[in-house]
Order: sequence, then structure tokens, then C-alpha cells
Amino acid sequence: MAQGKRYLLTGASSGIGAALARELASKGYDVALAARRTDSLHLLAAELQARFGRKAIVLPLDITDYDACHDAIGLAANALGGLDGVIANAGIALTGKAGGGHFKRVRLTLETNLIGSIACLDAACALFRQQGHGHLVAIASVAGKRGLPHSAGYSASKAGLISYMEATRAELLGKNIDTTLLLPGFIDTPLNRDMSKRPFLIDVERGAALLAKHIDKRHSSAYVPSWPWAIIGRLLPFLPTSMIAKF
Ligand SMILES: NC(=O)c1ccc[n+]([C@@H]2O[C@H](COP(=O)([O-])OP(=O)(O)OC[C@H]3O[C@@H](n4cnc5c(N)ncnc54)[C@H](OP(=O)(O)O)[C@@H]3O)[C@@H](O)[C@H]2O)c1
Repeated sequence: MAQGKRYLLTGASSGIGAALARELASKGYDVALAARRTDSLHLLAAELQARFGRKAIVLPLDITDYDACHDAIGLAANALGGLDGVIANAGIALTGKAGGGHFKRVRLTLETNLIGSIACLDAACALFRQQGHGHLVAIASVAGKRGLPHSAGYSASKAGLISYMEATRAELLGKNIDTTLLLPGFIDTPLNRDMSKRPFLIDVERGAALLAKHIDKRHSSAYVPSWPWAIIGRLLPFLPTSMIAKF
């Protein structure tokens, strides 16, 4: 049986999410576009309908409102006539030294990237168990493979998301619900434009094309792009702390 292509995408108002929505629509996906900036979502939805003739609906959503994440799954399913997948992409990258008075930023990073993403994935998983099929996708990061200096909250949020997806994958094995864990390196978006160094940077269109390919093929996990991040990501846990401290 052909796999359905009706997906909810969080963080669709900017960067990777917006570019990924275009890629998926070009591959025949209908999408529910979620974020807080609804003006951008409406423009994107109109573009997807005009360019690709796909259904694109707008869902205002703050993923730190965990009840709203639950509701968004039902709203997306109703609006699209069913739901085949959810992509937990929304995220923030607030950096700062540990103990440097940044606890509120760290907490918001965890509330958004980790708990907000899990709120969406968990609600979708409940629906997918009920209907007997579905696809859970999470956009984590290479930064989740090893805690990086000045990004303790961000690394912790992405490490938690990786762990959640690994556990979910094991639980859902053989249940006709797929999981895809994606680990980007540096992709050019507003999230990282202020960073002084962005090694092996790729543009957002290329990043989205690679991510869409892995999602469409329902790969279990992938680094994006695979070179050099698949090697770096696998090495990171084994590098000495003295080397990590220089990052
Ligand atoms: N760019 C990279 O190099 C890179 C690398 C690894 C991982 N990632 C991950 O990729 C994902 C997308 O990042 P990006 O680079 O595309 O950044 P971006 O351009 O800043 O986009 C972030 C998106 O997340 C949404 N968002 C943030 N907080 C939200 C909230 N509380 N509720 C709902 N939506 C929220 C934003 O929408 P609103 O502000 O409109 O709500 C926006 O659409 C993030 O999870 C990020 O950690 C990015």
C-alpha cells in the first residue's frame, strides 16, 4: 500500500521548516504548517497551493503550550482528511556560559526543543497507534551527540530528543509506525547567522532537499549532509574533553 503524504510540520515559518515544506509539497505532500508567526505561514501556504497544487493549511502553534500541541494533531488530521506523519522541527538555539546567569534561556531551550517536540510527537504517536500507521520525524542536531561548550542547554535538548526517538523506535518496531531521526550539521538559517564559525555550512535549499529525501524514504536516521557529519557525529562521543573545550 502506498504511504500517505499528509504531514504536520512544526517551525514552518522560517529556515529549514519553510524550505522543507516547499520540498515536501513538490513531492506531492499535503502539509499542516505550524508556528507562532502566522503571517509567514499564510504566505507559504498560498505559495505551496499555487506552485504545487497541494493542500497547505495554517496552524497557529506555540509548542511550549503542550495542550495546544496535542490539539494541533487533531486539528491537522481534520483539516487534511487524516494524518500520516508529524515532523518536530521547531526549535531555538539560545547560547550562553553555564553559570553565566542564563538559566532562563536554558530552561526555554529545553521547554521548546525537548518538551515541546515530545509533546507533538507523543500526541501524534497516540493517533498513529490508534489508526495503525504513521511516521514520527524529529530534527535533532549533531550538537546532541556531545555536549558542546556555551551550548549546554541546546546540546542537552537535542541529546534528550535523540534519546526519546531511539526509545520510541525500539517500542514501535513491528507496529507499522516509522521513526526518522535527523541530525543536521550547519544549515544557513536565521538560527545560526550570528555565529562566528559555521563549519561545512550548506544552504537551506540543499539542506531541505536532503532532509526531505530521508523523510520520504522513511530512513531511521541520518546526518545532514552525511559528509562530513556522519564521521564527526560518530567520533564526537570519543574525543577528549580538552579537544571539545576548544570548540
Ligand atoms: N540551522 C542549522 O544549522 C540547524 C542545525 C541543526 C539542527 N537544527 C534544528 O533545525 C530546526 C529548525 O531550525 P532553523 O535553523 O530552521 O531555525 P529558524 O530559521 O530560526 O526556524 C525556527 C522555527 O522554529 C519555530 N519555533 C521556535 N520556537 C517555537 C515555539 N515556541 N513554538 C512554535 N514554533 C517555534 C519558529 O517559528 P515561530 O518563531 O514563528 O514560532 C521557526 O519557524 C531547529 O530544531 C534547530 O535546532 C538547525
